[in-house]
Amino acid sequence: MTSTPDTLTRSTDSSQPLVPLLEERWSPRSYDDTATMTDAQLDAVLEAARWASSAMNHQPRRFVAGRRGTDTFAKINDNLLGFNAAWAFRASALVVGILETTTEDGEARPFAQYDLGQSLTALTVQAHAEGLHVHQMAGIDADGLRAAFDLPERFVPYTVTAIGTVADPSQLDEKAAEREIAPRTRLPLDEVVLVKE
Ligand SMILES: Cc1cc2nc3c(=O)[nH]c(=O)nc-3n(C[C@H](O)[C@H](O)[C@H](O)COP(=O)(O)O)c2cc1C
Repeated sequence: MTSTPDTLTRSTDSSQPLVPLLEERWSPRSYDDTATMTDAQLDAVLEAARWASSAMNHQPRRFVAGRRGTDTFAKINDNLLGFNAAWAFRASALVVGILETTTEDGEARPFAQYDLGQSLTALTVQAHAEGLHVHQMAGIDADGLRAAFDLPERFVPYTVTAIGTVADPSQLDEKAAEREIAPRTRLPLDEVVLVKE
């Protein structure tokens, strides 16, 4: 399956020009199930995640990453819920984003969600720079993932991120294919920015 230029980018109507990686980023569900990620590409996106900032530099995030065709990929894929299971299996890699909620000594890590999110934004930007696309998912079986990877209680699987090469939307079911090309929307700037002067 070849990628479709039409959906490589779905730039939208920003009031100001953004850097191209941010302007062009979007979250596809149609991936080329023959495309692979090299080991170096997977390392690059994980390094980007590792180098993201975090509160007190505590870095309360961990990752489990598997490329399609591996046992790790299969275990992650088995723990995607509902709709996500219908498309994410074609991605080149799946990455579980895991919160470190406390240290081994029981010290809380209250910014873990924020810090994991930051790292996945960095991963996303790096992936796009590599010509890949990314789709984050909260629809996952966290307990299933914890069991599959034998994680201790303090590690909480929080999201799964699909990384791959965008493909023609026509391989999706009709509703998903429509969503794939629908205009991307956001709240207006003056609604999300409460004060600006
Ligand atoms: C934390 C998080 C969880 C998400 N969970 C899902 C999900 O379970 N399934 C899905 O299809 N998309 C999921 N998304 C994708 C969002 O729906 C998508 O990013 C949003 O509609 C904006 O689209 P865009 O990324 O193309 O700009 C998630 C995104 C984030 C950041």
